[in-house]
Amino acid sequence: MLTAPALETVRATLPAVGAAIGDITPIFYRRLFDAHPALERDLFNRANQAQGDQQRALAGAIAAYASLLVAEDGPDPRLMLARIGNKHASLGVTADLYPVVYEHLFAAIVDVLGDIITPDIAAAWTEVYWDMANALIEVEHGLYSEAAVADGDVWRAYVVRERRLESRDTVSFVLATPDGSAFPAWKPGQYISVAVDLPDGAHQIRQYSLTGSGSADSARVTVKAVPAVDAAVPAGEVSNFLFENVFEGDRLQASLPFGELTLPDGDAPLLLISAGIGLTPILGFLQHLHSTGSARRVDVVHADRSPAAHSHRAEMLRIVDEMPAASLLRWYEDPGATTADLVYAGRVDLEQLALESNAEVYLCGPLAFMAAVRAGLIRKGVHADSIHYEVFGPGPELQMLQAAWAIAARRGVPSRRRLNPRGSRAASSPSSSRRSGRRRPRPRRRGKRARGERRSRTRDPSTPPPS
Ligand SMILES: Cc1cc2nc3c(=O)[nH]c(=O)nc-3n(C[C@H](O)[C@H](O)[C@H](O)COP(=O)(O)OP(=O)(O)OC[C@H]3O[C@@H](n4cnc5c(N)ncnc54)[C@H](O)[C@@H]3O)c2cc1C
Ligand code: HEM
Repeated sequence: MLTAPALETVRATLPAVGAAIGDITPIFYRRLFDAHPALERDLFNRANQAQGDQQRALAGAIAAYASLLVAEDGPDPRLMLARIGNKHASLGVTADLYPVVYEHLFAAIVDVLGDIITPDIAAAWTEVYWDMANALIEVEHGLYSEAAVADGDVWRAYVVRERRLESRDTVSFVLATPDGSAFPAWKPGQYISVAVDLPDGAHQIRQYSLTGSGSADSARVTVKAVPAVDAAVPAGEVSNFLFENVFEGDRLQASLPFGELTLPDGDAPLLLISAGIGLTPILGFLQHLHSTGSARRVDVVHADRSPAAHSHRAEMLRIVDEMPAASLLRWYEDPGATTADLVYAGRVDLEQLALESNAEVYLCGPLAFMAAVRAGLIRKGVHADSIHYEVFGPGPELQMLQAAWAIAARRGVPSRRRLNPRGSRAASSPSSSRRSGRRRPRPRRRGKRARGERRSRTRDPSTPPPS
């Protein structure tokens, strides 16, 4: 909590500081990396830096946290820290690095807002920073303790036991410990950070979701090689490095498993929706439900470019087929000549889905895909709090804020204001699906074109293709 004077000062200066944060963060990172070049080379994702995503994420998170701190009836700001804390833990971030970030962040603030930063304003924002930093340090320490390791001691050597092409541009790696001991415990939906040494000497780290390998002493990741778009948007560095260079028997440096988006036990029906490589956490959920003999109703929806591009296609089909109450609907931009059941051409059309009134929905895919599907589900009456999603990149601060509000709502924390009263709650009126119960699907085969279904390859600007 902030002191009373700091609270007032932050409330008064939030708009000005918030507006300047976009100018502050590039200066902050330049200062940080000039003083500590190893952080840029070995810890931070340099593609995110080049695009500004990570800069926006950190800045946005601090502004979002401050806005919750000063909200009179808002949820506890710490509710938005699970994603950041898990990401930090998967990178081995430790408490001693927070003063380093503070030093350069505040030097950048003075660079940009020097004229208006009074000692009171500086002191108030210092309180915000340390409130958030201490909360993150606590979350991260808790995660390290849960994993039974010293803070930051998350990096391990794994051996690639098996490498398999899962589609033309995705490859899976079964990872085992070098001495054959048990693979570190993980929950479906969690990920590991994988570190590689690139040819130019940079040590770069990315996250990959875990799926089961069929054996307790190993686990699997599946990597999509991200292609170049043009000269300005180069090919992904780590994914292509892994695709081209890592083979059976090789060692791979990776973290212990972390990640906050896991599948809670329960009986509620599940709607699992993925696009492209976003299927990995969903496949982890499915494997878990299948191997534990779950009788839950599970509807799986997957979108991809084509059946050939759909990695783990056969595995997904088999698992769903073997589950007592599961279905799989697929949408392919280009379905080719396939005549399989429940395969549609074009983009996901929610009209084809039978929505369970009390379903919990899990989404993973490109941001624009998830935004479009989420909006569609809410229009169909799904409660916003029942929609959970994984983002394969720096999480937008809005998502973190929404997560905080959603958790607060579930716990019954009263609040006068809602973050997004029109978009989320008002629109997700319980009147339709919550009261109506299950509606039958209207599955249509290719050929009998469903409403909104397009055979044309023209892109719908609101929903870019799956990753
Ligand atoms: C929790 C989590 C789980 C994930 N799980 C998986 C998974 O199971 N499988 C999987 O394949 N991926 C997964 N990802 C994504 C993965 O971590 C990587 O982001 C992905 O592999 C791309 O990394 P890369 O190094 O190849 O690309 P990067 O080099 O990081 O590039 C990323 C994008 O930025 C673009 N870019 C790079 N530099 C610039 C520039 N200067 N200007 C403009 N654009 C630029 C690239 O073209 C590319 O499109 C996950 C991510 C998260 C956060
Ligand atoms: C209060 C201080 C901090 C805040 C608010 C903060 C916020 C964030 C956010 C929002 C993300 C993106 C998370 C996501 O993927 O969704 C992130 C990632 C990250 N943070 Fe922090 N962070 C803080 C401190 C630190 C410190 C002290 C370090 C270590 C020097 C650090 C290193 C990183 C790294 C390496 C990433 C991943 C970067 C990437 O993949 O591009 N952070 N942080």
